[in-house]
Amino acid sequence: MEIEDLPGVGEKVAEKLREAGFDSMEAIAAASVSELKDIGLGEASVVKIIKAAKEGIKNTPEMGFETGIEALKKRELIGKITTGSEELDKLMGGGIETQAITELYGQFGSGKTQLAHQLSVNVQLPEDEGGLGRNAIYIDTENTFRPERLMSMAKALKLDPNVVLKNIHIARAYNSDHQMLLAEKAAEIAEEYNIGLVVVDSLMSHFRAEYTGRGTLADRQQKINKHMHLLQRKLADAHNITIVVTNQVMSKPDTFFADPTAPVGGHIVGHTSTFRLYLRKSKGDKRVAKLVDSPSLPEGECVFEVTGNGIQDSKNKD
Ligand code: GTP
Ligand code: MG
Repeated sequence: MEIEDLPGVGEKVAEKLREAGFDSMEAIAAASVSELKDIGLGEASVVKIIKAAKEGIKNTPEMGFETGIEALKKRELIGKITTGSEELDKLMGGGIETQAITELYGQFGSGKTQLAHQLSVNVQLPEDEGGLGRNAIYIDTENTFRPERLMSMAKALKLDPNVVLKNIHIARAYNSDHQMLLAEKAAEIAEEYNIGLVVVDSLMSHFRAEYTGRGTLADRQQKINKHMHLLQRKLADAHNITIVVTNQVMSKPDTFFADPTAPVGGHIVGHTSTFRLYLRKSKGDKRVAKLVDSPSLPEGECVFEVTGNGIQDSKNKD
Protein backbone atom coordinates (compact mmCIF):
# COMPACT_ATOMS: atom_id res chain seq x y z
CA MET A 1 0.00 0.00 0.00
CA GLU A 2 1.21 3.47 -0.94
CA ILE A 3 0.52 6.51 1.20
CA GLU A 4 -1.56 7.87 -1.70
CA ASP A 5 -4.06 5.11 -0.90
CA LEU A 6 -4.97 6.84 2.35
CA PRO A 7 -8.21 8.83 2.39
CA GLY A 8 -7.73 12.47 1.45
CA VAL A 9 -4.07 11.95 0.50
CA GLY A 10 -3.59 13.21 -3.01
CA GLU A 11 -0.37 13.97 -4.77
CA LYS A 12 0.18 17.27 -2.93
CA VAL A 13 -0.47 15.97 0.56
CA ALA A 14 1.64 12.88 -0.15
CA GLU A 15 4.51 15.11 -1.14
CA LYS A 16 4.17 17.14 2.05
CA LEU A 17 4.12 13.97 4.13
CA ARG A 18 7.17 12.52 2.40
CA GLU A 19 9.10 15.76 2.74
CA ALA A 20 8.49 15.70 6.47
CA GLY A 21 9.74 12.13 6.67
CA PHE A 22 6.37 10.36 6.80
CA ASP A 23 7.11 8.28 3.76
CA SER A 24 5.44 5.00 4.65
CA MET A 25 2.27 3.61 6.21
CA GLU A 26 4.27 2.66 9.28
CA ALA A 27 5.65 6.16 9.73
CA ILE A 28 2.20 7.71 9.42
CA ALA A 29 0.58 5.15 11.69
CA ALA A 30 3.17 5.98 14.34
CA ALA A 31 2.80 9.74 13.95
CA SER A 32 0.96 11.90 16.43
CA VAL A 33 -1.91 14.16 15.41
CA SER A 34 0.05 17.28 16.28
CA GLU A 35 3.07 16.16 14.21
CA LEU A 36 0.93 15.89 11.10
CA LYS A 37 -0.90 19.10 11.89
CA ASP A 38 2.49 20.78 11.99
CA ILE A 39 3.01 20.12 8.31
CA GLY A 40 -0.15 22.04 7.49
CA LEU A 41 -2.98 19.48 7.52
CA GLY A 42 -6.32 19.97 9.24
CA GLU A 43 -7.07 18.07 12.43
CA ALA A 44 -10.05 16.12 11.07
CA SER A 45 -8.17 14.83 8.05
CA VAL A 46 -5.11 14.03 10.18
CA VAL A 47 -7.20 11.85 12.48
CA LYS A 48 -8.66 10.04 9.45
CA ILE A 49 -5.27 9.55 7.82
CA ILE A 50 -3.64 8.11 10.94
CA LYS A 51 -6.58 5.79 11.59
CA ALA A 52 -6.51 4.48 8.02
CA ALA A 53 -2.73 4.00 8.15
CA LYS A 54 -3.11 1.96 11.35
CA GLU A 55 -5.79 -0.19 9.70
CA GLY A 56 -3.65 -0.53 6.61
CA ILE A 57 -0.63 -1.98 8.37
CA LYS A 58 -2.48 -4.53 10.48
CA ASN A 59 -1.22 -8.03 9.78
CA THR A 60 1.39 -7.02 7.26
CA PRO A 61 4.95 -8.26 7.67
CA GLU A 62 6.15 -4.66 7.96
CA MET A 63 3.93 -4.14 10.97
CA GLY A 64 7.03 -4.02 13.10
CA PHE A 65 6.74 -7.02 15.39
CA GLU A 66 9.31 -9.74 15.30
CA THR A 67 9.82 -12.59 17.71
CA GLY A 68 12.64 -12.58 20.23
CA ILE A 69 14.26 -15.37 18.21
CA GLU A 70 14.31 -13.19 15.10
CA ALA A 71 15.71 -10.27 17.06
CA LEU A 72 18.44 -12.51 18.44
CA LYS A 73 19.28 -13.89 15.00
CA LYS A 74 19.63 -10.36 13.68
CA ARG A 75 21.89 -9.36 16.56
CA GLU A 76 24.08 -12.39 15.94
CA LEU A 77 24.92 -10.88 12.56
CA ILE A 78 26.42 -7.74 14.12
CA GLY A 79 29.97 -7.22 12.94
CA LYS A 80 32.66 -4.96 14.40
CA ILE A 81 35.28 -2.88 12.65
CA THR A 82 38.56 -2.36 14.45
CA THR A 83 39.63 1.26 14.95
CA GLY A 84 43.31 0.34 14.82
CA SER A 85 43.65 0.95 18.56
CA GLU A 86 43.05 -1.97 20.90
CA GLU A 87 42.20 0.40 23.74
CA LEU A 88 39.58 2.17 21.66
CA ASP A 89 38.19 -1.14 20.41
CA LYS A 90 37.87 -2.30 24.00
CA LEU A 91 36.02 0.89 24.96
CA MET A 92 33.60 0.23 22.09
CA GLY A 93 32.99 -3.37 23.06
CA GLY A 94 35.30 -4.82 20.40
CA GLY A 95 35.04 -2.28 17.58
CA ILE A 96 32.55 -0.08 15.77
CA GLU A 97 29.35 -2.09 15.33
CA THR A 98 27.17 -2.72 12.32
CA GLN A 99 23.40 -2.13 12.61
CA ALA A 100 24.14 1.05 14.54
CA ILE A 101 25.02 4.71 14.12
CA THR A 102 28.18 5.82 15.90
CA GLU A 103 28.59 9.56 16.29
CA LEU A 104 32.13 10.92 16.60
CA TYR A 105 32.03 14.40 18.03
CA GLY A 106 34.64 16.83 19.18
CA GLN A 107 36.43 20.04 18.30
CA PHE A 108 38.42 20.69 15.13
CA GLY A 109 41.52 18.55 14.96
CA SER A 110 40.23 16.07 17.53
CA GLY A 111 40.58 13.22 15.03
CA LYS A 112 37.05 12.63 13.75
CA THR A 113 38.01 12.68 10.08
CA GLN A 114 41.16 10.65 10.77
CA LEU A 115 39.18 7.93 12.50
CA ALA A 116 36.59 7.95 9.70
CA HIS A 117 39.40 7.49 7.14
CA GLN A 118 40.91 4.67 9.19
CA LEU A 119 37.59 2.83 9.43
CA SER A 120 37.13 3.14 5.65
CA VAL A 121 40.37 1.18 5.28
CA ASN A 122 39.82 -1.21 8.16
CA VAL A 123 36.33 -2.29 7.05
CA GLN A 124 38.12 -3.94 4.12
CA LEU A 125 40.27 -6.16 6.32
CA PRO A 126 39.19 -9.79 6.57
CA GLU A 127 37.03 -10.64 9.57
CA ASP A 128 39.82 -12.39 11.45
CA GLU A 129 41.87 -9.19 11.26
CA GLY A 130 39.17 -6.91 12.60
CA GLY A 131 37.39 -5.95 9.39
CA LEU A 132 34.23 -7.04 7.65
CA GLY A 133 35.80 -7.89 4.29
CA ARG A 134 33.50 -5.24 2.82
CA ASN A 135 33.71 -1.78 1.27
CA ALA A 136 32.99 1.82 2.26
CA ILE A 137 30.90 4.78 1.17
CA TYR A 138 32.19 8.18 2.25
CA ILE A 139 29.85 11.18 2.08
CA ASP A 140 32.12 14.19 2.35
CA THR A 141 30.51 17.54 3.13
CA GLU A 142 33.62 19.54 4.02
CA ASN A 143 35.99 18.47 1.28
CA THR A 144 38.36 16.89 3.77
CA PHE A 145 38.52 13.44 2.18
CA ARG A 146 42.17 12.67 1.37
CA PRO A 147 43.01 9.63 -0.78
CA GLU A 148 46.73 10.08 -0.07
CA ARG A 149 46.08 9.67 3.64
CA LEU A 150 44.16 6.46 2.96
CA MET A 151 47.09 5.15 0.97
CA SER A 152 49.48 5.62 3.90
CA MET A 153 47.00 3.91 6.20
CA ALA A 154 46.59 1.04 3.72
CA LYS A 155 50.35 0.59 3.33
CA ALA A 156 50.80 0.51 7.09
CA LEU A 157 48.41 -2.45 7.14
CA LYS A 158 50.20 -4.11 4.20
CA LEU A 159 47.14 -3.69 2.01
CA ASP A 160 47.37 -2.73 -1.66
CA PRO A 161 46.63 1.03 -1.62
CA ASN A 162 45.06 0.99 -5.06
CA VAL A 163 42.67 -1.79 -4.15
CA VAL A 164 41.76 0.03 -0.95
CA LEU A 165 41.00 3.23 -2.87
CA LYS A 166 38.97 1.32 -5.45
CA ASN A 167 36.77 -0.05 -2.68
CA ILE A 168 35.88 3.35 -1.24
CA HIS A 169 33.08 5.22 -2.95
CA ILE A 170 33.27 8.92 -2.24
CA ALA A 171 30.65 11.54 -2.88
CA ARG A 172 30.93 15.21 -2.18
CA ALA A 173 27.67 16.63 -0.80
CA TYR A 174 27.04 20.19 -1.92
CA ASN A 175 24.16 21.03 0.38
CA SER A 176 21.91 19.31 2.91
CA ASP A 177 19.37 18.15 0.32
CA HIS A 178 22.13 16.65 -1.76
CA GLN A 179 23.53 14.99 1.35
CA MET A 180 20.16 13.38 2.07
CA LEU A 181 19.84 12.27 -1.52
CA LEU A 182 23.28 10.67 -1.40
CA ALA A 183 22.26 8.66 1.65
CA GLU A 184 19.28 7.31 -0.31
CA LYS A 185 21.53 6.52 -3.24
CA ALA A 186 23.86 4.72 -0.84
CA ALA A 187 20.99 2.48 0.20
CA GLU A 188 20.36 1.61 -3.44
CA ILE A 189 23.93 0.57 -4.18
CA ALA A 190 24.79 -0.97 -0.79
CA GLU A 191 24.25 -4.58 -1.85
CA GLU A 192 25.83 -4.33 -5.29
CA TYR A 193 28.99 -2.66 -3.94
CA ASN A 194 29.22 -4.89 -0.86
CA ILE A 195 29.13 -1.93 1.51
CA GLY A 196 29.93 -2.50 5.18
CA LEU A 197 30.53 1.10 6.26
CA VAL A 198 28.87 4.42 5.45
CA VAL A 199 30.56 7.60 6.70
CA VAL A 200 28.92 11.02 6.80
CA ASP A 201 31.69 13.57 7.49
CA SER A 202 30.32 15.84 8.72
CA LEU A 203 26.68 15.34 9.52
CA MET A 204 25.71 18.87 10.44
CA SER A 205 27.91 21.36 8.57
CA HIS A 206 25.42 22.00 5.74
CA PHE A 207 22.39 21.98 8.02
CA ARG A 208 24.12 24.36 10.33
CA ALA A 209 25.03 26.78 7.56
CA GLU A 210 21.66 26.66 5.84
CA TYR A 211 19.34 26.84 8.81
CA THR A 212 20.36 29.73 10.95
CA GLY A 213 17.61 31.82 12.58
CA ARG A 214 15.53 30.38 15.39
CA GLY A 215 12.42 30.12 13.24
CA THR A 216 13.98 27.53 10.97
CA LEU A 217 15.35 25.29 13.72
CA ALA A 218 12.24 23.10 13.76
CA ASP A 219 12.57 22.52 10.02
CA ARG A 220 16.20 21.69 10.47
CA GLN A 221 15.55 19.18 13.24
CA GLN A 222 12.84 17.52 11.19
CA LYS A 223 15.19 17.06 8.26
CA ILE A 224 18.02 15.73 10.40
CA ASN A 225 15.57 13.36 11.98
CA LYS A 226 14.60 12.08 8.56
CA HIS A 227 18.25 11.78 7.50
CA MET A 228 19.24 9.85 10.62
CA HIS A 229 16.27 7.50 10.34
CA LEU A 230 17.13 6.75 6.76
CA LEU A 231 20.72 5.95 7.74
CA GLN A 232 19.50 3.65 10.48
CA ARG A 233 16.66 1.87 8.71
CA LYS A 234 17.66 1.70 5.06
CA LEU A 235 21.39 1.23 5.60
CA ALA A 236 22.34 0.03 9.09
CA ASP A 237 19.35 -2.29 9.60
CA ALA A 238 18.56 -3.27 6.03
CA HIS A 239 22.13 -4.16 5.04
CA ASN A 240 23.91 -4.83 8.33
CA ILE A 241 26.08 -1.75 7.85
CA THR A 242 28.16 0.35 10.26
CA ILE A 243 27.21 4.04 10.13
CA VAL A 244 29.71 6.62 11.32
CA VAL A 245 28.76 10.30 11.45
CA THR A 246 31.03 13.10 12.60
CA ASN A 247 29.87 16.18 14.40
CA GLN A 248 31.56 19.37 15.55
CA VAL A 249 30.95 20.76 18.98
CA MET A 250 29.82 24.29 19.58
CA SER A 251 32.83 26.53 19.98
CA LYS A 252 30.65 29.10 21.66
CA PRO A 253 27.24 28.55 23.17
CA ASP A 254 24.36 29.65 20.96
CA THR A 255 20.68 30.06 21.71
CA PHE A 256 20.31 26.31 22.03
CA PHE A 257 23.06 25.03 24.26
CA ALA A 258 24.70 26.44 27.30
CA ASP A 259 27.34 23.69 27.32
CA PRO A 260 30.27 24.65 25.07
CA THR A 261 31.05 20.97 24.44
CA ALA A 262 27.55 20.14 23.29
CA PRO A 263 27.48 18.52 19.86
CA VAL A 264 25.70 20.40 17.10
CA GLY A 265 22.21 19.16 16.36
CA GLY A 266 21.30 18.59 19.95
CA HIS A 267 18.58 16.16 20.90
CA ILE A 268 17.78 14.72 17.51
CA VAL A 269 21.28 13.53 16.71
CA GLY A 270 21.81 12.36 20.28
CA HIS A 271 18.68 10.29 20.39
CA THR A 272 19.09 8.75 16.99
CA SER A 273 22.73 7.70 17.24
CA THR A 274 23.39 4.45 19.08
CA PHE A 275 26.90 5.22 20.27
CA ARG A 276 28.38 8.63 20.92
CA LEU A 277 32.11 9.00 21.17
CA TYR A 278 33.51 12.32 22.35
CA LEU A 279 37.06 12.97 21.08
CA ARG A 280 39.47 15.55 22.39
CA LYS A 281 43.06 16.55 21.80
CA SER A 282 45.69 15.74 24.36
CA LYS A 283 49.50 16.07 24.30
CA GLY A 284 51.08 15.80 20.83
CA ASP A 285 49.51 13.05 18.75
CA LYS A 286 47.48 11.79 21.69
CA ARG A 287 43.72 11.87 21.66
CA VAL A 288 41.24 11.00 24.39
CA ALA A 289 38.03 9.18 23.50
CA LYS A 290 35.10 9.12 25.86
CA LEU A 291 32.12 6.84 25.31
CA VAL A 292 29.17 8.97 26.26
CA ASP A 293 26.06 7.09 25.29
CA SER A 294 25.65 3.44 24.69
CA PRO A 295 22.77 1.02 25.13
CA SER A 296 24.85 -1.71 26.74
CA LEU A 297 28.44 -0.61 27.34
CA PRO A 298 29.72 1.19 30.42
CA GLU A 299 30.84 4.80 29.98
CA GLY A 300 34.59 5.15 29.96
CA GLU A 301 37.65 6.79 28.47
CA CYS A 302 40.78 5.73 26.66
CA VAL A 303 43.81 7.26 24.97
CA PHE A 304 44.90 6.64 21.38
CA GLU A 305 47.23 8.29 18.87
CA VAL A 306 46.92 9.72 15.39
CA THR A 307 50.24 8.80 13.76
CA GLY A 308 51.65 8.80 10.25
CA ASN A 309 50.45 5.21 9.99
CA GLY A 310 46.96 6.03 11.19
CA ILE A 311 45.05 5.37 14.40
CA GLN A 312 47.04 3.36 16.94
CA ASP A 313 47.38 2.65 20.62
CA SER A 314 49.36 5.21 22.56
CA LYS A 315 52.84 3.83 23.27
CA ASN A 316 54.00 5.99 26.16
CA LYS A 317 51.26 6.23 28.73
CA ASP A 318 52.30 9.45 30.48
P1 GTP B 1 37.31 19.11 12.04
O1 GTP B 1 36.83 18.37 10.84
O2 GTP B 1 38.04 20.35 11.70
O3 GTP B 1 36.23 19.34 13.05
O4 GTP B 1 38.40 18.20 12.78
P2 GTP B 1 38.56 16.62 12.88
O5 GTP B 1 38.16 16.18 14.22
O6 GTP B 1 37.95 15.96 11.72
O7 GTP B 1 40.13 16.50 12.81
P3 GTP B 1 40.99 15.54 11.91
O8 GTP B 1 40.55 14.15 12.07
O9 GTP B 1 41.07 16.08 10.54
O10 GTP B 1 42.37 15.66 12.64
C1 GTP B 1 43.39 16.47 12.14
C2 GTP B 1 44.62 16.17 12.98
O11 GTP B 1 45.03 14.83 12.76
C3 GTP B 1 45.78 17.03 12.59
O12 GTP B 1 45.78 18.23 13.31
C4 GTP B 1 46.94 16.15 12.96
O13 GTP B 1 47.21 16.32 14.34
C5 GTP B 1 46.42 14.75 12.79
N1 GTP B 1 46.92 14.17 11.55
C6 GTP B 1 46.36 14.22 10.34
N2 GTP B 1 47.12 13.61 9.41
C7 GTP B 1 48.19 13.15 10.07
C8 GTP B 1 49.36 12.43 9.68
O14 GTP B 1 49.54 12.07 8.53
N3 GTP B 1 50.25 12.15 10.65
C9 GTP B 1 50.06 12.52 11.95
N4 GTP B 1 50.98 12.20 12.86
N5 GTP B 1 48.98 13.20 12.35
C10 GTP B 1 48.07 13.52 11.42
MG1 MG C 1 36.98 16.63 10.01
